[in-house]
Amino acid sequence: MSRLPDSGGYFGAYGGSFLHPQLQPVADEITAAYLKIKDDESFKEELAALYKHYVGRPSPVFRAARLSAAIGGADIYLKREDLNHTGAHKINHCLGEALLARRMGKKTLIGETGAGQHGVALAAAAALLGLECRIYMGETDMHKEHPNVSRMKILGAEVVPVCAGLKTLKDAVDAALRKRNEITEAFG
Ligand SMILES: Cc1ncc(COP(=O)(O)O)c(C=O)c1O
Repeated sequence: MSRLPDSGGYFGAYGGSFLHPQLQPVADEITAAYLKIKDDESFKEELAALYKHYVGRPSPVFRAARLSAAIGGADIYLKREDLNHTGAHKINHCLGEALLARRMGKKTLIGETGAGQHGVALAAAAALLGLECRIYMGETDMHKEHPNVSRMKILGAEVVPVCAGLKTLKDAVDAALRKRNEITEAFG
């Protein structure tokens, strides 16, 4: 876990990065910015303070006694990431990404969501840091997960319906990446 990939994204023979050529410079810019700030004490302190005071980490570990007894042979513990603010583990990486985006001078976070938990976490991180937020979501998922659509909107995000393909997460990912590409072409 402590080893980082090489500049091509490889861990030995495995890994790599497979991106549309127009998105590669965007990924490279983000990588360079991340490598620059990841050991920056003020970045680490800001993120750690947000984890503690905004997210409510560290989340507790709970011994699921009845589940352990029912399955037999193992003591099962649950790391209660569902108790984090916004109700999932997603807020952990969304906060780091939002802090990085702000330090890079970006004004808008663009993301995608399926069940809506990632969208809610990104919308919360954007609202916290005063960034705009646009979330792509398949129309099928928007109907299924309507409460999370409302939460994203309450947090100030624009939720963009995606009606291509199966209208679910994969199509939302494609739409978000396509949008990023169009912005890159138009504004560099
Ligand atoms: C970047 C990103 N998008 C989407 C998802 C899917 O989650 P959700 O169904 O809550 O949108 C995840 C899950 O961790 C994610 O990390």
